[in-house]
Amino acid sequence: MIERLQAPRGTFDVLPDDSERRAAVEAAARQVLGAAGYRRIETPAFEATELFARGVGESTDIVQKEMYTFEDGGGRSLTLRPEGTAPICRAYAEHGMHKLAQPVKLWYLSSFFRFERAQAGRYRQFWQVGAEALGSDDPAVDAESILLAVALLDELEVQQVRVRVSSLGSLAARRDYRERLQEHLRAHADQLSAEVRARIDLNPLRAFDSDHPDTREVMREAPRLLDFLSAQDAEHFAAVRALLDAADLDYEVDPTLVRGLDYYTRTVFEIESGALGAQSAVGGGGRYDGLVEQVGGPPTPGMGWAAGVERMLLAAGEGRAVAPEVDLYVAVDGGQPARQAAFALAAEARRARLHAQLELGGRSLKGQLKQAGRVSARYVAIVGDTGSALRDMDSGDQEDVQVSGVVARVLRELRGLGA
Ligand code: HAM
Repeated sequence: MIERLQAPRGTFDVLPDDSERRAAVEAAARQVLGAAGYRRIETPAFEATELFARGVGESTDIVQKEMYTFEDGGGRSLTLRPEGTAPICRAYAEHGMHKLAQPVKLWYLSSFFRFERAQAGRYRQFWQVGAEALGSDDPAVDAESILLAVALLDELEVQQVRVRVSSLGSLAARRDYRERLQEHLRAHADQLSAEVRARIDLNPLRAFDSDHPDTREVMREAPRLLDFLSAQDAEHFAAVRALLDAADLDYEVDPTLVRGLDYYTRTVFEIESGALGAQSAVGGGGRYDGLVEQVGGPPTPGMGWAAGVERMLLAAGEGRAVAPEVDLYVAVDGGQPARQAAFALAAEARRARLHAQLELGGRSLKGQLKQAGRVSARYVAIVGDTGSALRDMDSGDQEDVQVSGVVARVLRELRGLGA
């Protein structure tokens, strides 16, 4: 026997029921973000590897070990996008969007690729909804962006949402802080996990993410980045918090919040759901005031976030799958003339914008009525060789109606106009 092939590890098929729930996510994103003036963008699924190396940062896990990088036929190094912010900054610069009215507000719903250890809620191809506002460093952009992320999760009924906010300050302040943190880590090196110890030089901030008990103990006493902010950055953060308070958002300031990407400056935030297991982060983001410049554009501030579609759906529970409605099921009760008339009727019904399904399974009439019930059809047209009938599936009433009159009749009934 020939071996049955399977989807690669960490990937999944989006089956029709799943796709209905995903369509609800897309509709909610369009509604919530569209209402705030965000417009949709789609960038290519792969980019020059250098974009992520420069943008996301050489020292990050993503660039060090999670990218799907390949060489194309022309010898160029390309990478399947692991995230959406660097590509959007590239597109902003490439299309001269700095000439448009600022900020430019963009949203996306796309698939991303990371070679991570696959488990529930963590995949190698996954989808994100994201929103990016480029061209303004106003604290109102930060606060509005965070509120929109929460609004989307609320709209999707994501359960037990917890919002944590912090500020990383400017890159210069972070450099000073890094040195102080490294001193602290070196002074306690014998208590640290091997992994954290190995990253003292490269990425000391990630030590805050460790779940190694002794490392956590050391981190409790570690200097806090929030205490190293410049006056301007501290003022910016205070303004963001004041706006979040004015909007009555429930959040906490978490000075240990670190994100897995290097481009952040000033505001960062993460949203978790208590309804998820180990992979509890449902979304996150922050400000990235140096990123557009880093990928070759003009100096441009930016702020945004992304939320994982699969995690949002996991945390929203069941109940959002809505099967498509069926106005008319066209059943066949006869030979070739009936089949042709039924085929034409279904096509005519769709031209009239009815949701119409044609019998395609070769069922008996009884089987067809059962199938019409299964798909919750509102009406069934039974098309014979010499005549036809229309059945109201709610009342069970059936009447002879000429095939040429079926569509007009169903339209009138659905509009509540009667026969
Ligand atoms: P991120 O925190 O790496 O941020 O990803 C955002 C969200 O994507 C996560 O909270 C999670 O829900 C989902 N996600 C990430 N990796 C996986 C995975 N392997 N499987 C399933 N879901 C996953 C970013 O990507 C930034 N670009 C966000 C951003 C936008 N910052 C500023 N603008």
